[in-house]
Amino acid sequence: MLDFIRNTKRTHYSEKLNEQNVGETVTLMGWVHRRRDLGGLIFIDLRDVTGMIQIVFRPESREVHKKAGRLRNEYVIAVSGKVLARDTANINKKMKTGKIEVEANELLLLNDSEPLPVQINENILAEEDLRLKYRFLDLRREKLKNIILLRHEIIFAIREFLTNHKFFEIETPILMKSTPEGARDYLVPSRIHKGKFFALPQSPQIYKQLLMIGGFDRYFQIARCFRDEDLRADRQPEFTQLDLEMSFATQDEIFKVIEELFEYIFKKTINTALKIPFPRLSYSEAMERFGIDKPDMRFGMELVNISGILKNSEFKVFSTALQSGGSVRCIIAEGCATYSRKQIDKLTDIARHLGGKGLAFCKVDENGLNAGITKFLKENEQKEILKKTKAKNGDLILFAADSDKMVFKILAEIRNHFGRELKLYNENEFNFVWITDFPLFEYNEEKQKWETAHHMFTLPKEEHLKYFATGEYDKIEGQLYDLVCNGLELSSGSIRCHRLDVQKKIFDVLGFSEEELEEKFGFFLNALRYGTPPHGGIAPGIDRIVMVMSGAESIRDVIAFPKTLQAADLMSHSPSEVSKEQLDELGITVTTKAQRHEEEI
Ligand code: AMO
Ligand code: AMP
Repeated sequence: MLDFIRNTKRTHYSEKLNEQNVGETVTLMGWVHRRRDLGGLIFIDLRDVTGMIQIVFRPESREVHKKAGRLRNEYVIAVSGKVLARDTANINKKMKTGKIEVEANELLLLNDSEPLPVQINENILAEEDLRLKYRFLDLRREKLKNIILLRHEIIFAIREFLTNHKFFEIETPILMKSTPEGARDYLVPSRIHKGKFFALPQSPQIYKQLLMIGGFDRYFQIARCFRDEDLRADRQPEFTQLDLEMSFATQDEIFKVIEELFEYIFKKTINTALKIPFPRLSYSEAMERFGIDKPDMRFGMELVNISGILKNSEFKVFSTALQSGGSVRCIIAEGCATYSRKQIDKLTDIARHLGGKGLAFCKVDENGLNAGITKFLKENEQKEILKKTKAKNGDLILFAADSDKMVFKILAEIRNHFGRELKLYNENEFNFVWITDFPLFEYNEEKQKWETAHHMFTLPKEEHLKYFATGEYDKIEGQLYDLVCNGLELSSGSIRCHRLDVQKKIFDVLGFSEEELEEKFGFFLNALRYGTPPHGGIAPGIDRIVMVMSGAESIRDVIAFPKTLQAADLMSHSPSEVSKEQLDELGITVTTKAQRHEEEI
């Protein structure tokens, strides 16, 4: 028989209790986390949102004790009783409330529970798919619960800080126009305008710029963004940005706000002091030194360009790369000369997996280079390499030779691999760095067209405007910046193009026709005509911030109800089919796979 609460009121949360409450009578409500029946005494670990406390049921309180005998894991109960200090021998150091316990004299059974399909009071984790199916149970796990609560604290601190810094929180539409912004859109069909679609925002980018044109000066939003793209450990189809924009602000001012904001939230929520301002690195320097625009700077192991030393190399792999305009670069894995063939093959596999042709190596002993490709290198080349790389006896040198792009890709991955493998960094460190001065455009060889490297609404550097006329688009840099922490891109932003003439030039390079422009961006270009203030902004990804701050390895662990890597919700089984009536109303016909197959025949 289940009980109703009636006049019973919760007086405390479990982990708010401590030795100072000894002697008080309290009422707690929560779940039976664990139950131990010692014949006479029954112990329950009662769990609520704050944590856990031990409840004792003594045989002397017969009614209550009998009732407690019926409790099973995850039953929902209300317990009243006296807080007692535990004997020194019975103190449980693993529990925050381990010095006390509550002796029950009243018990309400508020609900029962079927045996759980996933256990939550054990350290062994069930398979993720099963946990995602029963997400509401998985959320009861302490680790996951704590991350979700930390996320709340972080968002609260963000709102507090920005409100105090004269930012206004303004909502922007979720149903918007489909504009080409980079990723694929999630589309929503319109019932009233049959055959027409809204798109879910990939980000509130255009709207926040329109808010600046609307005169709001400083805007922010905890904004949900939707992108139909390939997912990874740090990417969800639906994610959250702290979207932010400022009028009349320079890049330095935006950096300052963000640095102080991060300093504030780290101090307030995880009591960690960050050192600000964060260091800055230009995009080209980041690529040269680390091969990547989101370098993990908790460790060194920088790339060394040895193309100059090898310009007359007779080693085919190197000379071919150099002759076709590429480079030869290497990294030094300290103390790894003992690596076996198998270990080195594994590294080569990483390079091949990324599309590279291979990975060459040499080992260093007391006489200089040996093994690997040493025999293909002339004596002076070997000497120069040792001098330039400062490799020492016992080190392993790994070389990549290819186009710069491929060399960077391979060595950056190999470097990160060693970072993890050799534990080259302190896991508890937060290493922030700004990456600045990104190129505005990138040539897509496959599609044979120019694309924006980052963001099409960015103001080019004034001194680079001349390259629009000469067609040297690769030389145009924008006031674009990323904030990177421990190798993860946390934020991205730019100073925007507030001038219509320059914005049109950008669209020109991207190859939009007049009609396309009018159709896709007409409303926005029109707005730029009416006194647009200079403005800029940034959008830190909240999910990634929570990942970094909580140490979570997967983005799914920082979102209450995430999607799988296949962009599905295993709990609610979405996406799902809808009724014929719903489709008819929208004027949509869906052909099944079988029908499509039939049509093809
Ligand atoms: P961008 O596309 O670089 O910029 O996104 C900004 C930040 O959002 C986070 N992010 C993601 N997080 C989880 N899953 C995803 N699929 C995902 N995609 C992006 C990252 C990233 O740094 N409108 C611009 C911002 C601006 O210029 O103000 C924008 O959206 O942390
Ligand atoms: P090969 O001449 O193809 O047998 O390659 C000799 C060595 O060079 C092997 O260890 C390959 O993994 C390596 N190698 C091949 N191509 C490249 C490349 N583009 N960059 C670096 N190493 C390479």
